[in-house]
Amino acid sequence: MQNQTQKTTVVVLGASGDLTQRKLGPALFHLSKTGALPDRCSFIGVARSKFTNSEFHTFLREGLADQSDSDWQEFTGNVDYFAGSSTDHETLAELDAQITFGCGEKDRDNRVYYLALKPSLYADTLIALAESGSLNETNGSRRVVIEKPFGTDLESAKELNSLAHTVLNEDQIYRIDHYLGKDTVQNILVFRFANSIFEPIWNRNYIDHVQISVLEDLGVESRGAYYDTSGVLRDMVQSHLMQLLALIAMEPPASSTPDALRDEKAKVLSAVRTVDSTYAIENSVRGQYNGYLDEVGVDPASTTATFGAVKLFVDTWRWQGVPFVLRSGKALERKTSEIAIEFKRPPQSIFGDNDEARPNRLVISIQPHEGVNLEFVNKSPGAGSNLTTESLEFHFPKGEIRDAYERLLLDAIIGDATHFNRSDEIESSWRIIDPFINAWVSAGRAGLKPYEPGSIGPVDSESLVGEGRKWVTGDG
Ligand code: BG6
Repeated sequence: MQNQTQKTTVVVLGASGDLTQRKLGPALFHLSKTGALPDRCSFIGVARSKFTNSEFHTFLREGLADQSDSDWQEFTGNVDYFAGSSTDHETLAELDAQITFGCGEKDRDNRVYYLALKPSLYADTLIALAESGSLNETNGSRRVVIEKPFGTDLESAKELNSLAHTVLNEDQIYRIDHYLGKDTVQNILVFRFANSIFEPIWNRNYIDHVQISVLEDLGVESRGAYYDTSGVLRDMVQSHLMQLLALIAMEPPASSTPDALRDEKAKVLSAVRTVDSTYAIENSVRGQYNGYLDEVGVDPASTTATFGAVKLFVDTWRWQGVPFVLRSGKALERKTSEIAIEFKRPPQSIFGDNDEARPNRLVISIQPHEGVNLEFVNKSPGAGSNLTTESLEFHFPKGEIRDAYERLLLDAIIGDATHFNRSDEIESSWRIIDPFINAWVSAGRAGLKPYEPGSIGPVDSESLVGEGRKWVTGDG
């Protein structure tokens, strides 16, 4: 709990960008409106554009649909703009002096610096922050939130981690993956570790395979230039899907401390098998939607994949031999993120062949039908033994799910790193994904499957799931 002698300043570096307008501004506004922020919390947007305070407020307001004038005025009373470059230490020193000046002598001057910048600016910005003295913790905490992508491969992630560690301690670094702020993703921990009935069957003896799907209906929209250098593996799989895999496959942490949880996630990611290029090609499917090459910012000869599916194995006692199949893509038939745990069939069927009966399946729906669905086989009423698959479903009440950024910004402000990535998790994720990225780059157009926007993606991605198995789609 913060007391009256605490002052908190959230400094958003790169404040004139899309992320600030669409996500950070609305999240801070809602946190302010619901009284969730500590007392004396203010925000400063920093960017090179020559905004006045009031122009910056107008820019932020465009990112919000529903707000009354009085709520808005109360919020913007604590929002300032500071024009300058995030990589210029003199600018940051001036800002530092301005914030210090606004704090009483006895105040704890706590700060969160949020890097809402192009990833290529992260290193220079961290150096400039350090050189300007802004990271000095004598009078208060200094935390730095770093957006994904954190690096573009294992080597660059290691370099960035090592640079970050020269100017900050690991516990000051908040590497954000907004999936970890989603209630439904946090619910994976509760579902697994606050219930005892699933743990005995959560292993290779009962689970046939695990599917993780994060599918999107929109194409690259206005982000063609960024996306073309990134592709689906860097943009989605290395971060969001790897974190989902870690939460599903990790061992129970011994406590709820941030490091107890992150130790277990790091451990399981370090156990994901490293593959070679032959395996990577034979156990992945990649596609590009028709029309992608005409998107603004995209190289007309690009071989960047907008759909990707990979098969991974976790080499632990619990998961030996259980395939984890992951897929993600843009311009698909629907937007849906879900995890399907498919259990093994009973060793013997005493009811004869029945097409309607599927193996038991647990589907954790991250979005848009936030909830959990357990499928089981049931007798159809009437004579005979006709079997059908039914489900026990839970859905989060509509309207109660908060935006992930809201939750994570508050965590960074109060200093709870539980749902942020540690350096070892990031490096493991790149180690797992790099061989697929490299194999795809070497293969170029060969093996890159075109697919129609609005379709399910390359049809043969089904083959990755294995014979007689199918991707789970929609509501499960
Ligand atoms: C971002 C990716 O991290 O996640 C985007 O860069 C993607 O390309 C987005 O659209 C998806 O997030 P969500 O929360 O809408 O599933």
